[in-house]
Amino acid sequence: MTKVNYYGHGTFGFETAGKKIVIDPFFTGNPKASLAADDLQADVLIVSHGHSDHIGDCVEIAKRTGALVVSNFEIIQWIQNQGIENAHPMHIGGSHDFEFGTVKLTMAMHGSMMPDGAYGGNPCGILLKLKDCTIYHAADTGLFFDMKLIGEEGIDLAILPICDNFTMGPDDAIRALQYLNPTKVIPSHYNTWPVIEQDPHVWAREVKAKTASAPIVLAPGESCTIGE
Ligand code: NI
Ligand code: MN
Repeated sequence: MTKVNYYGHGTFGFETAGKKIVIDPFFTGNPKASLAADDLQADVLIVSHGHSDHIGDCVEIAKRTGALVVSNFEIIQWIQNQGIENAHPMHIGGSHDFEFGTVKLTMAMHGSMMPDGAYGGNPCGILLKLKDCTIYHAADTGLFFDMKLIGEEGIDLAILPICDNFTMGPDDAIRALQYLNPTKVIPSHYNTWPVIEQDPHVWAREVKAKTASAPIVLAPGESCTIGE
């Protein structure tokens, strides 16, 4: 069984087979964060792209916990320049088998500049193949038709942005589900700031009406379980 923890915005944690994996550890400066960066325990930190609401507290948490950082090649170089040694570079289309599961980086239609203006490479989505389930965290992206290829991997849980303005909005997230066809879906990356206000419950009703996926709406601090 895998426990899914929602920490607010696009920040999710997965507890599986005794390991804690966190995607996009954004706590400091996140008005919806359900805990402080200093209170997070993590074995693995996966970063989708360089924007500050995704790289977040990655360096500080990695220094404190010793967690392995996984991201694209450019972001890992930036992280290593901040003194982090336990880091694994990958890139889009590549998979790697870790002790906790397999990570594959996927494309994302977005930007990836680092907070200090450094080049952050191309932004990524994350396909996480754990022992009991496959999770696709789309991170920040617009809709793209190649989501159909990602869907062919067999997704148990998709995490999709619905915020509009910076990423796909609710309507395109419904279209994304038709390409991805996950068993379950959690909306993310909304209501953090006024410009990205959305009603996830209205969206969940649309998901039920128009797709075969089961929506799960989590408030920051809430959890659910998937897998066996
Ligand atoms: Ni972004
Ligand atoms: Mn973002």
